[in-house]
Amino acid sequence: MSRPDSQSAAWFDRARAVTPGGVNSPVRAFAAVGGTPRFMASGRGAWLTDVDGNEYVDLVCSWGPMLLGHAHPEVLAAVGEAVARGTSYGTPTATEVELAEEIVARTPIERVRLVSSGTEATMSAIRLARGFTGRDVVVKFAGCYHGHVDSLLASAGSGLATFGVSTTPGVPESSAAQTIVLPYNDRAAVEAAFAEHGDRIACLITEASPGNMGVVPPAPGFNAFLAETCRRHGALFVSDEVMTGFRVSRSGQWGRDGAIEGWTPDLMTFGKVMGGGFPAAAFGGRADVMAMLSPEGPVYQAGTLAGNPIATTAGLATLRLATDEVYARVDDVARTISEAATKALAAAGVPHVLQAAGNMFSIFFTEAAEVPDYATAAGQDVEAFKAFFHAMLDRGVYLPPSAFEAWFCSAAHDDRAVQQVLDALPAAAEAAGGTR
Ligand SMILES: Cc1ncc(COP(=O)(O)O)c(C=O)c1O
Repeated sequence: MSRPDSQSAAWFDRARAVTPGGVNSPVRAFAAVGGTPRFMASGRGAWLTDVDGNEYVDLVCSWGPMLLGHAHPEVLAAVGEAVARGTSYGTPTATEVELAEEIVARTPIERVRLVSSGTEATMSAIRLARGFTGRDVVVKFAGCYHGHVDSLLASAGSGLATFGVSTTPGVPESSAAQTIVLPYNDRAAVEAAFAEHGDRIACLITEASPGNMGVVPPAPGFNAFLAETCRRHGALFVSDEVMTGFRVSRSGQWGRDGAIEGWTPDLMTFGKVMGGGFPAAAFGGRADVMAMLSPEGPVYQAGTLAGNPIATTAGLATLRLATDEVYARVDDVARTISEAATKALAAAGVPHVLQAAGNMFSIFFTEAAEVPDYATAAGQDVEAFKAFFHAMLDRGVYLPPSAFEAWFCSAAHDDRAVQQVLDALPAAAEAAGGTR
């Protein structure tokens, strides 16, 4: 029952002739699941339509940004008006200020700087942390992705305080060597790394609730422990909320732990939802740290299109529309779909673990009882996921084309869209079971 894909295949051929791998971001190439990547022609609400005319319920939502669904009429109207006034001035604008105010109002940060991508946000936050502390070493967790920043592409070495080995050619060893990679959710590893290298550590950066190895939530109190450990050692705690920010609650993951437990990160990074589907991202934090940033202070950072009027208009419109009702709806959709998925897989006898951070969730095809870290996530049965993915795709559900990604819903996932997902799940679960 495969759907037609000849137009996508033709575009993929043309793409590969002019672009490495035929895509502008690797996961889009379907390398992890095989088959033809679908070239999308349009999106509306919960739905994507590809160039062959197939419709899909979208559970990727542009990897997070489309909290309100595609082509939200009020966001489109705001963007249309902004475009008609011109697309970029290279000067300050009122919209940038309003977006910054909205971000500050929803989070514990005091000052914010707008940039154009999540990668730029984390790169700049790291530079600022190094400039502020006068130290070089960065601590990160295996399986946490913070964009393609040289020093943050270092991966695990498992075990204590392993100095990172770069996982991609092109990253100088000297850069990776400034990075300590630790297993996620492992307090003892964090203690040991800080005991040995504490006076050289500029910052610890973590996904506030990791979604880039699949969803691996922090154990209760883990982020508070990280904040406290950093404080004790004079290092900055950088909470990367590019994925979770303004998605898992109006105040992101911080709204689900820090706001309740009473701690704040020194720096935070944002992207995705706050750009409303346009390239906008941000980093921000304590006023005294942010004051180190040019032109107020000596740490340089800049951007021709930073705070672009169209991107900030889309982001501002999105955040203003992201009300408590919107979050309640997204939470509800995520709960319904994730519970149905785990039920279908259980009925088909497929070993799996469902993990969620609010409305962000993923399913690990594994015999493990839980997935607390990257080493466990990496042990999953990717063949089962592949079969599951393609069975869902054939039934009009577009899942992330990798077993190591979060599933994303939107407030536009209405009952018809949710039902299409629920209807597809039993057969997909059987397909996953068939690979065993
Ligand atoms: C947690 C996190 N940080 C940073 C990034 C990088 O953002 P961008 O892809 O906009 O450069 C991502 C992207 O997925 C992310 O999930």
